[in-house]
Amino acid sequence: MGYETITAEQRGAVTLITLNRPQALNALNSQVLEDLIAAFAAFESDDGQRCAVLTGAGDKAFAAGADIKEMADKAAADFFLEDFFARWTSHLVKATRKPWIAAVNGFALGGGCELAMMADFIIASEKAKFGQPEIKLGVAPGMGGSQRLTRAVGKAKAMEMCLTGRMMDAEEAERSGLIARVVPHDSLVDEALKTAATIAAMPPMAAIVNKEMVNAAYEMTLDQGLLHERRLFQILTATEDKAEGMAAFIEKREGQWKGR
Ligand code: HXC
Repeated sequence: MGYETITAEQRGAVTLITLNRPQALNALNSQVLEDLIAAFAAFESDDGQRCAVLTGAGDKAFAAGADIKEMADKAAADFFLEDFFARWTSHLVKATRKPWIAAVNGFALGGGCELAMMADFIIASEKAKFGQPEIKLGVAPGMGGSQRLTRAVGKAKAMEMCLTGRMMDAEEAERSGLIARVVPHDSLVDEALKTAATIAAMPPMAAIVNKEMVNAAYEMTLDQGLLHERRLFQILTATEDKAEGMAAFIEKREGQWKGR
């Protein structure tokens, strides 16, 4: 499928999606949103695809934010009536049950940081920089920065970053729990693809359930979350892949997954 602002390619069971407006530091305009919605829907509906990686083209940026030039002349009523930014979460987070990884190769600022945080986890290059500089534009995060960043790194750092607009480098981001891992810049996409391939080789229903369980920790009380976890675990024990996985372990061989 042809996209205007991104590329998408299949590497075995992994879909690699690349934001591709390097001349604008991959700023997120409305065409990027349409292209990403289409690419994520294609990934989600293709039974052969099990995990995705999202990265940015060029050496400098994952995404330097929502496109300021597109937003500059928009009226408040337009943002409100369009429920601007709502579709990022509804399509890329809520409608995407399969796991996906953000491979952050440079600046992830404003909407770029927020997009990375929509992923199930982030792997970053040592050149990555994260920030929520919206305050300097007279606004504030609009795609989840005040909520997902606070849950990831805690109030002190999130508040400091939102109020000052300062950037966090990859080392601090790893130390603060924002990202899973820092890797050398040149091997970022390979490392992310390798991790995605590991996930893609897992029993697919179990992958979806594991993702749902961890995400539930952000939505539920501990008691509700523990019950949710047990019930989902109990449901998974009814799958053919559970029988196969346990038999394969006992017989010292690799499991052959049916996906049911
Ligand atoms: C549109 C952008 C952009 C953005 C960069 N560009 N970021 N265009 N929207 N968010 C464009 C520049 O205008 C420039 O185009 C080209 O990309 C290269 O950028 P430079 O600024 O020349 O690069 P550099 O000097 O290396 O500085 C890099 C940078 C800086 C520090 C990342 O570009 C920057 O501060 N960008 C804005 C970051 C930001 O504020 N993000 C939050 C956006 S608001 P030309 O054509 O001039 O060469 C947001 C949510 C807001 O995300 C919610 C409001 C409702």
